[in-house]
Amino acid sequence: MGIYKNMKTINIGLVGFGAMGKLHAFCVSSLPYYFERCGFEASLYGICTSSLEHSKDVLERYGFKKIYEDAHQMISDPCIDVIDICTPNYLHHEVILEALSAGKNVLCEKPLCVTVDEALEAYHASMRTGTVCGIVFNNRHLSPIIRAKQLIDEGRIGDIISFSGEYLHDSAIDTKKKAGWKQNSDYGGGVLYDLGSHIIDLIYYLCGEFESVFGRAQIAFPTRPGQNGEEWQTNADEAFYINARLKCGACGSITASKLATGTNDDLNFSIYGTKGAIKFSLMEPDWIYFYDTADKSDSFGGDRGFKRIECVQRYGISPAFPAVKASQGWVRGHIGSMGAYLGAVASGEKFTPSFRDALHVQAVIEAAYRSAANGKCEKIRNFEH
Ligand SMILES: NC(=O)c1ccc[n+]([C@@H]2O[C@H](COP(=O)([O-])OP(=O)(O)OC[C@H]3O[C@@H](n4cnc5c(N)ncnc54)[C@H](O)[C@@H]3O)[C@@H](O)[C@H]2O)c1
Repeated sequence: MGIYKNMKTINIGLVGFGAMGKLHAFCVSSLPYYFERCGFEASLYGICTSSLEHSKDVLERYGFKKIYEDAHQMISDPCIDVIDICTPNYLHHEVILEALSAGKNVLCEKPLCVTVDEALEAYHASMRTGTVCGIVFNNRHLSPIIRAKQLIDEGRIGDIISFSGEYLHDSAIDTKKKAGWKQNSDYGGGVLYDLGSHIIDLIYYLCGEFESVFGRAQIAFPTRPGQNGEEWQTNADEAFYINARLKCGACGSITASKLATGTNDDLNFSIYGTKGAIKFSLMEPDWIYFYDTADKSDSFGGDRGFKRIECVQRYGISPAFPAVKASQGWVRGHIGSMGAYLGAVASGEKFTPSFRDALHVQAVIEAAYRSAANGKCEKIRNFEH
């Protein structure tokens, strides 16, 4: 039993153990260090991947209790409380629906699904079952993003006028690199789903819903080796450029690219308002940059300029782990995401980012792909809250 009287241990069933499954398992195992008295216990209970042999290896190496042949078998186990989906994108929809109809809580990696219709079905199913559902937009859980949201909500940058957001990698520059499912549109591949969903979500989270988009997709390398080493035709965008207008009237641009030579994991944005501005770069995850027009401006001796605000490990958690002054990185956002989601499962409270948030991001993605195909500006579909 956990610390809360009515709270048993939360048994997690992980579907998929590639890059993200491994990270989710690491996050769950790390929670007692980061959140000493969080009021719940979480157990890496079940694992299923696309191969039983791999699942057995994962069970032995990472301390899971049970392996399952597939997601159906895992979902039918009454011992499982949370289905945590870390599979390729095209598999999310089916697993979400089946898990929800079995009354499970569901945490799903981004993007929620591949199409808006699938995402809408998932959202409606989550509303019907009332279990705790969430999407992994991990960057929302980083201290500079939490601070940026606070500054914007306090009105410190005024009304938002414009923005630019980028998520840049350089992995597609290497033409010898084999295409995986992320480079194959049949499996929900494409950089807009992959990197684009994150930066679209951050602009949505900080500035509000999108109204319309104009999109342009780019494939710079039409062929590369496929999984079998033979020549393979690229069919998913390697870079995607969006010109957007938000419902608040702000205009701006979004770039998601794996063609950005020299970048590593470069998510960055600038948001400009009537009273100030905010800048962030994931490659400098300890700081948020804030410009305040209320600062004194003088011909000589003024103190205006972008201020670098320290965010480091300021998560309002005591005792802090690691120490407040310690620098942080990408993994910390995932730990925050996992802690917040399982905390919501333990308390039965609603979790954000929700399936409704993910549905809006999905609608922006779909409209951007439509625009890239027909060369027209596309309106974003609206959904009730
Ligand atoms: N939030 C983030 O920072 C972030 C980063 C990368 C990827 N992602 C998302 O995470 C998800 C997984 O991406 P990844 O990079 O870990 O992919 P991956 O290719 O590294 O791993 C996919 C895993 O799914 C398993 N799998 C495939 N088919 C399966 C099936 N039918 N049943 C059970 N397991 C199956 C594979 O065995 C593998 O373990 C995707 O939705 C992706 O968009 C999120």
